[in-house]
Formats: sequence, structure tokens, C-alpha cells
Amino acid sequence: MNIFALETSCDETSASVVSGLNIKSVVVSSQIKIHAKFFGVVPELASRAHIENINVVISQTLLKAGISFDDFSKKIDAIAFTVGPGLAGALLVGTIAAKSVASIYKKPLIPVNHLEGHLYSSFIEKKSIKPPFLSIIISGGHTELIIVEDFGKYITLGSTRDDAVGEAFDKAAKMLDLSYPGGPIIDRRAERGNYQAIKFSRPYLKDSWDFSFSGIKTALLNYLKINPVKNEKHLNDICASFRQTVAETLVFKAFKAAKEFRLKQIALGGGVSANSLIRKMFVEFGRINKMKIFLPVVSYCTDNAAMVGYAAYLKQKKCGLNYSLIQLKSNPSLSLENW
Ligand code: KG4
Ligand code: ZN
Repeated sequence: MNIFALETSCDETSASVVSGLNIKSVVVSSQIKIHAKFFGVVPELASRAHIENINVVISQTLLKAGISFDDFSKKIDAIAFTVGPGLAGALLVGTIAAKSVASIYKKPLIPVNHLEGHLYSSFIEKKSIKPPFLSIIISGGHTELIIVEDFGKYITLGSTRDDAVGEAFDKAAKMLDLSYPGGPIIDRRAERGNYQAIKFSRPYLKDSWDFSFSGIKTALLNYLKINPVKNEKHLNDICASFRQTVAETLVFKAFKAAKEFRLKQIALGGGVSANSLIRKMFVEFGRINKMKIFLPVVSYCTDNAAMVGYAAYLKQKKCGLNYSLIQLKSNPSLSLENW
């Protein structure tokens, strides 16, 4: 089964050719430069950039996989695309492109929930994948704790009540006069700082699996009002202390949930799972608690179409290929659904 996949839910235009569980090619065109000056994604600019980039991204992806437009019909069996959640205009570009390719080449479509792309992304390039496991999706738009009982069988334990964790990193970076996206910049600076320098209170909600990151953001703001950044060392210490607080919150809750629900495997996904401390802490706690930890390869942490094609492969194996081209519509507020 060869799947051609598209991802356009936010600010990356991406396409991929996935053959069974193997990734043949993937191209990601990032819009970071366009949105950086606004310190966040501007939906209208994102849609426009997707329209400008999508044809080039598609051509490059096929070229990398050694597939010409003439071979497409012979070599590709289905077209997958991100159907939601995400930005309405951005999703529409990918949906229309997927439908166009599907109708030109008379191929079936596989709609993929963006969250499911992240959810299975840590298994790409690894052979063993066997639910049940606990999934923690940590990205710019989501912070979700999910029990995956089987492929397509989910119980969402908790989500964020306010900012997503990536959003908290990005806003903290803005307060610190760093550029966008802030997560990787704070991560790099934190490596050179002292994480014990500042004590931010832990944003831990008791008796709930939900997360909240607005408190730590406010704590940082209040700290900076009294202690403006003095020098590079001070800035690195703030980054290290902030990253430590966020990482501890995620690790603590994820392991508590895994123990409580007797899950022996934890899989991470989403842009924030590229964070070096979060990766290290999950691996270390996994070792101590004798749990298996699955981390996505760094290039599959942030949005990409390989994860969409991979999730589509798993989905069609169980559900087949019976989606109607006419009835399929993108859904910006799509939630995780069982299949
Ligand atoms: O998964 P993603 O590409 O987009 C969404 O689906 O939201 O995640 C983007 C987010 C941004 O907020 C970015 O700051 C964060 O992932 N991020 C990181 C790191 N790399 C990316 N956050 C912390 N540490 C990193 N190394
Ligand atoms: Zn994402």
C-alpha cells in the first residue's frame, strides 16, 4: 500500500510518500519566516503561503520518491490528508489539493486527524508498535493525555485548560525578547543555564488529568517585572528554570497516569517533544519505572506529512478505503474520534 499524504493544518506545507510503514520521501516547507515578526501564526498569511507552496512541495516529494506524474496512477494507491483540527483556510488548501489529486488519478481518500498524526509519530522508523500505551501530545496547539487502548480506540484523560505547552514556550520567549518559535530557542539557551536559579511554582492541577500553563506564564511575567534580564547568563538561567518547571509538570502527570492505568508504554508526539530536557526526563523516568518510552525522531516532532501518511496506513488497515470524495470536508475543530 503506497500512500501519498498532505499536511497543511497550520504553518507547514508538507507532502510525503509512505509505503506500508516506511517513509519513502517527505518534504516540509516551513512558514516560520513569514510568521516570526508577528510572534505567532497569522491564519490568512498561512493559507496564502500554503497555496503558493503546495504544488512545489508535491512535485519535490514525488521526485524524491522517484515517482513521475505519469507513474502516479501505477505507484500510488491512496491519498491521505489532514482533515482537522487546525486553521480553517490552511486545512482547506490541503483538502482541495488532496481531492483534486484523488479525482484526477481516481484514487481513494483517507482523512486523517492531525492529532492522530502526532499520536503515532514516535513509531515511525521503529518496528515494534503494540497498544495499549499512554500518548502525550505536546505541541503549539495541544497538550493532550490520551490512553490508546488499540489503534483507533482512545480515552482522552486530560487536555490543557488554557495555553498549549508550545504556546507557553512561545509566549515566554516573547516576554524574554527572543524570536519565534520560542520553544527551540529557550531549549538551546536552557542548556547553558542553571535550572535551579529561579523557583517558578509548578502549574500542577490536583485531582485532574488536565494541564494549565497560564500560571507559569504569569509567574515569569511577574518575575521579569521585578528582575529584568541583566545579562546573557541571567537570560539562560531564566530559560533553564522555565523549561525545568514545564518539563517536570509534563513528566510528573504522564507517569502518574501511566501508573494509575497500568500502562507500560508512553509515546510522545508534537513539536514540544523535540525538547531536549523533556526527552531526557521521559527516558530517565521510563528506565526507573520500567516503562518503554517512544520518542519521535526530531524531524517528525513538528508538523509533517509523513506522520499523516503513517496514521493513514494504520487507519485504512482497520477501516478500509470507503470515504466519499464529495462528502469529505475539513473540520477546524475536529476532536479525536474512535474508528
Ligand atoms: O507540532 P507543532 O509543529 O505544531 C502544532 O501542531 O501546534 O509544534 C510547534 C510548537 C511550537 O510552539 C514550538 O515552539 C514548539 O513546538 N517546539 C518546541 C521545541 N521545538 C519546537 N518547544 C520546546 N522545545 C523545543 N525544542
Ligand atoms: Zn501539530
